[in-house]
Amino acid sequence: MKTINSKIPHIILAATLLTCVSCSSPQPDTPEKARIGVACYNQSDTYIRQLTNCLRDQFDQRTNENDQLALTMTLRDAAGSQRNQNDQVKELLDAGCSILCVNLADRADPSEIIDLAREREIPIIFFNREPVAEDMMQWDQLYYVGADAKQAGRMQGELAAAAILADAQADRNHDGKIQYVVLEGEPGHQDAIIRTEYAVNTLIHQGIQLEKLSCQIANWNRAQAQNRMMQMISQHQNQIELVLANNDDMALGAIDAYKKLNVTESVLPLFFGIDGTDVGLKAVIDKELNATVYNDKEGQAESIANLAVSLITGQGTDDISFMNEKYIYLPYFKVTADHVGEFLER
Ligand code: GAL
Ligand code: CA
Repeated sequence: MKTINSKIPHIILAATLLTCVSCSSPQPDTPEKARIGVACYNQSDTYIRQLTNCLRDQFDQRTNENDQLALTMTLRDAAGSQRNQNDQVKELLDAGCSILCVNLADRADPSEIIDLAREREIPIIFFNREPVAEDMMQWDQLYYVGADAKQAGRMQGELAAAAILADAQADRNHDGKIQYVVLEGEPGHQDAIIRTEYAVNTLIHQGIQLEKLSCQIANWNRAQAQNRMMQMISQHQNQIELVLANNDDMALGAIDAYKKLNVTESVLPLFFGIDGTDVGLKAVIDKELNATVYNDKEGQAESIANLAVSLITGQGTDDISFMNEKYIYLPYFKVTADHVGEFLER
């Protein structure tokens, strides 16, 4: 594992802190202030809203614990538009942010933001929406914090396989195959296609015979998923035995569709999500959602905050382990009704 270059010459704060340490002069009464700019793609996304709340908690906690440091986080919501986000990043830089945390609106289009930050030598920590490798190479002060989509898909497949193998009624028409549908996230998102592919392949690998009835895009969104699910139900009636959703909100949208149609419990399919949002965990407790995969927002927020503070102060970067010098991936965890309580307490 390599570590990053910890020197960011333009940040006066680092110099100030180092001076204090090296000449053991009295600690300043007033803390050094640093502003952190957080640009997110869409606050109407349930998981992102919770993740940015965790991030705010992290910066607040560090400010409370360290009287040398006062961190102010400024959050901007691009409402899905890269153009908005470019303008917001420019404003955040003009306002004097010493670090940017960016959840790209369009993960394939970070160039303008990278140029703006590089001109001012402000590092960027991208999160959750991973830029393509080529763009990450544009500058050595670009980082990424996220999670591995393959692992999420594999875990969802394992959870679904275990549930199917444990329940003789899962194959409701007893044809030896599980008829399934997929609700997929945004096209082009690193988590969408890969999660589906790994979930399906894992099921097959575990010896489950599958028959795909349909795959619909619902852009991570509960209402869209409900809509798509209503269409799929009207097309396939009670043939659907399994719903694999790329995230919890879409799994919940699918459940909403069945509720709206008043479908009796005995013909409900099994539902699986990913994220472990508050509403997702609640649905696991209520036994509506069979299981989910925890997308560790607390862990990701902590990693982003650690890295941000290290870059601001110029201290501690050597302790951070990166993949390929700039990537940090946090693990996912399986969540079933048996141990959902652990995740509620996070
Ligand atoms: C995924 C998450 C989705 C959605 C998406 C936004 O990791 O599972 O629910 O929030 O990120 O980029
Ligand atoms: Ca069947």
